[in-house]
Amino acid sequence: MTSTPGRRVLLGITGGVAAYKAAALVRLLLRSGMDVRVVMTEAATRFITPLTLQALSGQKVWTDLWDAGIPDHMAHIELSRDRDLIVVAPATADFIAKTALGLADDLLSSLVLARECPLLVAPAMNRQMWEQAATQRNVRTLRGDGILVVGPAVGDQACGETGPGRMVEPEALLEEIEAAFQPKVLAGKRVLVSAGPTEEPIDPVRVLTNLSSGRMGYAIAQAAREAGAQVTLVSGPVQLATPVGVARVNVRTAREMFEAVKTAVDASDIFVSVAAVADYRVKKPAGQKIKKGSASLRRLELEENPDILAWVASRPRGPFCVGFAAESENLAAHAKAKREKKGIPLIAANLAQDALGAQDSAITLFDARGAHPLGRAPKLTLARKLVLHVAGMLASPGRTRGRRPARAAKRRKPRTR
Ligand code: C5P
Repeated sequence: MTSTPGRRVLLGITGGVAAYKAAALVRLLLRSGMDVRVVMTEAATRFITPLTLQALSGQKVWTDLWDAGIPDHMAHIELSRDRDLIVVAPATADFIAKTALGLADDLLSSLVLARECPLLVAPAMNRQMWEQAATQRNVRTLRGDGILVVGPAVGDQACGETGPGRMVEPEALLEEIEAAFQPKVLAGKRVLVSAGPTEEPIDPVRVLTNLSSGRMGYAIAQAAREAGAQVTLVSGPVQLATPVGVARVNVRTAREMFEAVKTAVDASDIFVSVAAVADYRVKKPAGQKIKKGSASLRRLELEENPDILAWVASRPRGPFCVGFAAESENLAAHAKAKREKKGIPLIAANLAQDALGAQDSAITLFDARGAHPLGRAPKLTLARKLVLHVAGMLASPGRTRGRRPARAAKRRKPRTR
C-alpha cells in the first residue's frame, strides 16, 4: 500500500502537443486509486477534446471560468477546495510565466492562484522556449515558491528538434505524484544507504560478484528522499539511474564500499545496509590477465572482507542501523539470528531467490517486537513501508535498541582490515 489511494487530484492541462499524454496520465492516476478532476485551458482543447478526458475520468471536464454549473460562480475557488494536489501536465511556457507572476486570467490559472494544496507542474515546450532566460527565470521562481517542477525530459520533440522540453512520461509522472503524497516522516534526518553488489577483482578482466541488481537499495534511497531525508547512496556497480535528489558515491569493491561508508557514517542518523557485499576477496589479484588453464585460476586464494554493517552497528554513537538478510530457506530463524549477531535494531528479510534482480519482492521486518510482514509488492512500495517503520521506531524511545552491549561488542570485535 502506498498512501495514494483515495487522494484527490486536480489535473490541469494546458495547450501543448504533449496534452495527449494527459489522457494516459488520467488512466494511471485512476488505476492507482486516485480521484481525478480535469480542468483544461482553451488552448488545450485544440489538442485533445474535453470529451476524451470526460470519458476517461468519468467526470465533467471544466474549461470555463464562467461555468454556470458551479454554485455562486466560484469555479476558480470551488474546484480546487477539496483537492490534495494540483498537477499541471503539460505545463506550457506561457502557463509557467503566468504562474510565476501570479496572473489569473482563465479558469486554470485562477484555480492555481487560489489553491490551498501543493502544486506540481510538468513543463513541455520547444527546447529553445525552455532554454530562454525568461523561462529559466520563471522556473526558478516556481521552485522558490515551493512548486514541484518535474522534468522536462530530453529527447525528440514534435517540432523535429532534439533537446530538453519533452513532457516527462506519464508513468514517471505518476511516480512523482505518489512521491509528493508520501508523509515527510524523515524530515531533517540524514540517511546513508549501501546498495548493489561489490566486485572483487581476480585479474584485470575477471571478478567475483553476485546477482544483486541494486533495485531495493535504490528504492530505499528514493523512499527516504521522498520522506524528507537527506540521502547518500553508496553504490556498487549497477545499471540504475540515481534517484532524484540523492547524492551517489560509486564504489567497486567491498573495501571501497567500507571506506565510503566510513567517510559518510558520522554525518548519518540512519544507515540502511542493503548492499550484497562480497564476503570474500581474492587475496592477491593478478596484475595481468591469467592465462586459461593456469593453476591460479583453478584454485583462488580468498580472504574475508570487512563486515561493514557490523562495524557501523558497533560504533558507540553510531546511526540507527537497518540490515538486510537474503536467505534461501528458514527465513525467520536466520533473520532473527542475524539481527542479534549484528547487534542491530531492525532487519529486513527476503528470500534470495525472490529478491535478487527482481522488480517485486516479499519482505518481512524483524525488530525486538517480532515479525512485521510487508507482503509482496514492487520494491518502491516495500521501501516506503520500511521507511514508515523506521520512522515509527525512531519516534518511540526504547524501540531503537538492538546495539550490542559494550561487553559483547568487545568480545566480538568486527573485522576492520
Ligand atoms: O552476514 P550477511 O552477509 O548475511 O548479512 C547481510 C547484511 O550485512 C546486509 O545488510 C549487508 O548489507 C551487510 N553486510 C555488510 N558487509 C559485509 C557483508 C554483509 O555490511 N561484508
